[in-house]
Amino acid sequence: MARRKKVYEGKAKILYEGPEPGTLVQYFKDDATAFNAEKRATIDGKGVLNNRLSEYFMTGLNGIGVPTHFIRRINMREQLIRAVEIIPLEVVVRNVAAGSISKRLGIEEGTALPRPIVEFYYKDDALGDPLVSEEHIIAFGWATQQDLDDMISLALRVNDFLSGLMLGVNIKLVDFKIEIGRIWDGDFMRLIVADEISPDSCRLWDIDTGQKLDKDVFRRDLGDLADAYTEVAKRLGVMPNAPQGMTKPTLIN
Ligand code: TMP
Ligand code: ASP
Repeated sequence: MARRKKVYEGKAKILYEGPEPGTLVQYFKDDATAFNAEKRATIDGKGVLNNRLSEYFMTGLNGIGVPTHFIRRINMREQLIRAVEIIPLEVVVRNVAAGSISKRLGIEEGTALPRPIVEFYYKDDALGDPLVSEEHIIAFGWATQQDLDDMISLALRVNDFLSGLMLGVNIKLVDFKIEIGRIWDGDFMRLIVADEISPDSCRLWDIDTGQKLDKDVFRRDLGDLADAYTEVAKRLGVMPNAPQGMTKPTLIN
């Protein structure tokens, strides 16, 4: 492919200028980071898996009327997306206590929460993405009250969709993070789901065994991260490559 202009490089993805105005190419790297990039590794195949899985989740969301930035997958590592103005908040939905809520509030990991809890974290690596309240968000102008209402409603729809999808393959959706962006049609502004949805940004536990199938495998040194993501992809019927030896020879004409 011809050289393209890099628009942004993050920890796990790169954004390039897209072929048409209002579009970007999102490239998934194999890099994994945790604890605000204190821990880093390259995990062969992670980018390919996340590209596929994010495509799968976003396509499903688009299909039930939850707007997302996803347009189409281009190749193994890249997808075409709509350019959005990212709201500088990580929107986390929790169904079961784990990770930071367990630590902060002393709730044992694995405790079912009385209802899905939506939290906002201010996206600022230098500050370590602090938890913020709706008061902070409105006072500092990161989003309006109307945006917040729309963000919560989007996040809960994503939660219902992903929880159901995962339940169907015997996986519990413990929690996840999404990012939301603004797009404009003339003067009319809409919020849509952006960034990625993948095991990098979810907690996924096998319902029977409790086995972790998400980035905690890397954060907590529990085994091979690519194997965990491959298991999720397999169960969902989303495999980037049929394993070698299982593919039938095909005629190319
Ligand atoms: P936490 O328990 O560390 O707050 O994480 C909650 C969920 O959000 C978990 O599924 C991981 C995800 N997450 C990210 O994707 N990126 C982040 O930077 C953080 C802190 C969490
Ligand atoms: N804090 C993120 C995580 O642990 C990744 C990072 O910021 O490096 O998921």
